[in-house]
Amino acid sequence: MDGRPGGWERRVPMEPAAPFNVLKWIEDHPEAFTPPVMNKQFYKEADDVIVFVSSGPNTRNDYHVNPTEELFYQLKGDIAVKIRPLDGSPPRNVIIREGELWLCPRWVPHRPQRPADTLGLIVEFPRTHNSEKVLDDGLRWYCEECDELVHEASFRLAHIDKDLHEVMDNFWNGPVEGRTCKKCGTVIERAGEFRLEDATAAS
Ligand SMILES: [Fe+2]
Repeated sequence: MDGRPGGWERRVPMEPAAPFNVLKWIEDHPEAFTPPVMNKQFYKEADDVIVFVSSGPNTRNDYHVNPTEELFYQLKGDIAVKIRPLDGSPPRNVIIREGELWLCPRWVPHRPQRPADTLGLIVEFPRTHNSEKVLDDGLRWYCEECDELVHEASFRLAHIDKDLHEVMDNFWNGPVEGRTCKKCGTVIERAGEFRLEDATAAS
């Protein structure tokens, strides 16, 4: 007996994958990144970690609500992550500069805004991590005029590079009523390409 729970040996690969150069891989696979999210996951077979790179430009105006923490490591260029603090203070931009590391706490709605020609590594955790209970993710859209919550989609995240696309497509391809603010009547439009100046001027 080695103290490990039964069944572990089925999940452990016989041979660990070889190290690889991330930047070179990305350079060689431009087709792996498609708007609006631009994510590419590595180690898809891993049980305990979700690792992916995200390049710019993305075009997002949704906030992701994650029941687990997210680690951002900015490999190339500077980005802004707009957050809605859980203490109710106004939304604000967290600027992550090239080379910087930032941990987004669980449940904090966050909107990664990635300008063109930027690249970041993100580490997330399977939603079952440290818990028997599987927790749902959310994507929220807020009214740009009055900040009312217009729509929240809840979903069980299984594939980081597919699930977000699907939820977003459902929102944008759904009826216009679903994108219309009930408080002020403003219709949410698709986001344009983001420039860091937009965030630094606003925050
Ligand atoms: Fe509104």
